[in-house]
Amino acid sequence: MQRNERSQPAAGTDSETNQNRRTLISWLLGGGVAASLASFFYPVARFLDPPQVTEAAVNEVAAGKVQDLKPNSGKIVRFGNKPALLVRVNDTEWKAFSAVCTHLNCTVQYQEARKEIWCACHNGTYDLDGRVASGPPPKALEELAVKVRGDEVVISRRV
Ligand code: FES
Repeated sequence: MQRNERSQPAAGTDSETNQNRRTLISWLLGGGVAASLASFFYPVARFLDPPQVTEAAVNEVAAGKVQDLKPNSGKIVRFGNKPALLVRVNDTEWKAFSAVCTHLNCTVQYQEARKEIWCACHNGTYDLDGRVASGPPPKALEELAVKVRGDEVVISRRV
């Protein structure tokens, strides 16, 4: 008789132990569900609201070698995160502009035959000073400074 009494715990203690187990399992399951939901929704939230990445301001870029561009020709070069148009007008004269059209932001290009800057999107044209010659662009292209250092052509912002 005494042996049975020792092997069976009291009814109140057993119920309390089961309740503690249920609480622990509930916490573990709830934590797992919460972690799963967080691991799903956090990337979604980051995708929908990405952090602002500030682009380092670029004031000067090497646009290439002098001999790479023949007179009366132009090329697009990267100026920070935007395109720039470098034009070699003749042997000694160079021009550079932001290549972003002032109408709807298409990239402009140099037209050798007409010696003008042309935007293919809506047929806007600019002269070699960046001024609007025809078409819908509302204002002139931003002009950049060009320097030749040795055989290197450098484009920079005008100050
Ligand atoms: S975007 Fe250049 S003319 Fe319209």
